[in-house]
Amino acid sequence: MAPGHELQLESDFANLARLAASGAQEDVRLWLAKLVRRYRTSHPSLAERLNETLKATHTRSAGSAALRRVVAPSFSTTEASIPVDVDTRMSLLRVSDDRGSGLDEPLLPETLSTEIDCLIRERFEVDKLRAHGIRPPRSAILVGPPGVGKTLSARWIAYRLSKPLWVLDLTTVMSSLLGKTGANLRMVFDYAKANEAVLLLDEIDAIAKRRSDESDVGELKRLVTAILQEVDSWPDSGLLLAATNHPELIDPALWRRFDVIFRFPNADITTVERGVRRFLGRDANDFEPFIGLLGDALKGTSLSDVERSVTTLRRRVLLKEASPAEVIVSLVAPHIEELDKAHRRTLAIELAKCKAYSHNRIMELTGVSRDTIRKYAGPSPIKGRSGRKDA
Ligand SMILES: Nc1ncnc2c1ncn2[C@@H]1O[C@H](COP(=O)(O)OP(=O)(O)O)[C@@H](O)[C@H]1O
Ligand SMILES: [Mg+2]
Repeated sequence: MAPGHELQLESDFANLARLAASGAQEDVRLWLAKLVRRYRTSHPSLAERLNETLKATHTRSAGSAALRRVVAPSFSTTEASIPVDVDTRMSLLRVSDDRGSGLDEPLLPETLSTEIDCLIRERFEVDKLRAHGIRPPRSAILVGPPGVGKTLSARWIAYRLSKPLWVLDLTTVMSSLLGKTGANLRMVFDYAKANEAVLLLDEIDAIAKRRSDESDVGELKRLVTAILQEVDSWPDSGLLLAATNHPELIDPALWRRFDVIFRFPNADITTVERGVRRFLGRDANDFEPFIGLLGDALKGTSLSDVERSVTTLRRRVLLKEASPAEVIVSLVAPHIEELDKAHRRTLAIELAKCKAYSHNRIMELTGVSRDTIRKYAGPSPIKGRSGRKDA
């Protein structure tokens, strides 16, 4: 190991021990999360083990949070008490609670993860901040293209704070009878405030969009005004989150009111590769030679798309009993020219090894020469149309 690495490990380990000895549970967790990221590349198996520990501490703390809820009735909530629209009886809130099952940290660029960690930490230290006359952050807005993990990060923040995430259902709020929207909104906010909740206003641009094509402009204007007032009067004791794919549609007056802005970029190639690995789950070993190739093929798409493609691959391999190489070729065929030369070669060689195609066919599919394929994978297994030429 490089001496620099060793020193870093030493100091990280010592710090972990110090935090553990001081009994600062949440600090230990924050530190573990940081270490998982720090060692992901240089020491993947250490990072994985630390991650397992981190997850286990969440599950335990979720258990104790449940206990705390018993003694703190302000947070003992049941589905039944969630506010509903008076006319339709539809729930105005959706609850997303990951405390029982655990949640993996969203895959985000380091800087953004660190900023999110900071927010979580500041929420834990509300009393200390207040004692120094500093207002803790009460609200944050998450901005970025679709499918990059905004909603997931809101879940993650709530989870780290050992709370469920309450999501305001804007569609139900707005679909109620005209004139009721404001009342519905107040009901949700009052309820969330009283419960010191983590409340997410997901896709808040929906209101702005409605504003332009709705006949009752007045009603929607009143809704925006009501939201502004609610954001203003949101207490220190809760956390208000909002997410949007369309920052340009957000009323500047609303925008200004959020304490923190989290900007989510499109996933970069490393994040896509990490996504591929995570979404492959237990099949990662079978796909190991193709991880770079998949990252290359899926770069520029959102993690949500990466997840969908990877799940498709896993399903096909499992049910059609095709080899990973064969299934991948069907996924990447339309973009094969855009792939890195080395990745095309990997694909060609692996296809040759699984003996499903002749070298000629592989050359057609991947553009890699038969000589190269033969050099790495031996002679073509399939005689006949192309086998002879290959020999
Ligand atoms: N950064 C990420 N890390 C891990 N998984 C992600 C990430 N972004 C998206 N996903 C996957 O895609 C799904 C949809 O993401 P979501 O958070 O709803 O995106 P957004 O709210 O930004 O449109 C997630 O539930 C998760 O499975
Ligand atoms: Mg979302």
